Amino acid sequence: MNVAAKTKPQYDPEFTANVINATGPNSNPRVAQVVGSLIQHLHDFARDVDLTVDEWMMGVNKINRAGQMSNKQRNEGQLLCDVIGLESLVDEITNKQLIGADYEATKTAILGPFFRHDTPSTTKNTSIIKTMPKDGEVTYMHGIVRDAATSAPIKGITIDIWQCSTNGLYEQQDPDQAEFNLRGKFTTDENGYYGLYCLRPVPYPVPDDGPAGELLQLLDRHPYRPAHIHIIAGSDMYTPLTTQIFDRTSKYRDNDSVFAVKDDLVVDFEPIQGNPKATLELVYDIRLAKKDK
Ligand code: BEZ
Ligand code: FE
Repeated sequence: MNVAAKTKPQYDPEFTANVINATGPNSNPRVAQVVGSLIQHLHDFARDVDLTVDEWMMGVNKINRAGQMSNKQRNEGQLLCDVIGLESLVDEITNKQLIGADYEATKTAILGPFFRHDTPSTTKNTSIIKTMPKDGEVTYMHGIVRDAATSAPIKGITIDIWQCSTNGLYEQQDPDQAEFNLRGKFTTDENGYYGLYCLRPVPYPVPDDGPAGELLQLLDRHPYRPAHIHIIAGSDMYTPLTTQIFDRTSKYRDNDSVFAVKDDLVVDFEPIQGNPKATLELVYDIRLAKKDK
């Protein structure tokens, strides 16, 4: 049978401009720019892949289900963005704008959905382990927070730290963990020092029982993140830093399901000597950029 090669259909060349030009003169200029560009790219994408009504409806259903299953504990829309790398990309774009290129501040990484704003403050060298898992390895994590431009230690920086337990669950996902387990908020002392006891982190899967998990399956991808600890550091004077640090030896370091790993954020857990409270030590200094006045 002689099958003629299918030619690409031609679509109305005026259509997208008509849609974008429907924006009224009283629209906020940034909204008009962002939404106009989004319409342009979405229309180009639909024409590029010759998107059918059935395929578009599958996408709409996924977005609807993501919204329906989101609540205070679960942000499925954010997770969908994470698995396609969008939160990591937007994080990079935002921080390139905030921080000048003339000195090296600590690199940023995405916030993720498990941060809690209400973590209580605690004093230096406290343990954040409230529910000790059988297989937990206690780590003395400490470092100095410095000004990225002058390298001077900075006093009074607030450092929020959080991590999941060795079962791969954050405390708000797991009724068997005490509230605020593996979370702590610290303040640097006059030498810029912060210190605490935490667990050596483990890899864990992002929640994969919703549309984000289905998408991972459709793309033949796994849901795992490499072992990491989350950090937010900042003060009135310094640009807040949101980041994560990654265990060099962790599985999935080279294929994080949410694309957050950066070489500068890879750290080493070392055996500790002479400290009966921990078996491991993690030294991690942080460099913060001063806010523009
Ligand atoms: C996390 O690191 O906690 C995380 C980040 C993105 C998606 C899910 C979890
Ligand atoms: Fe995490």
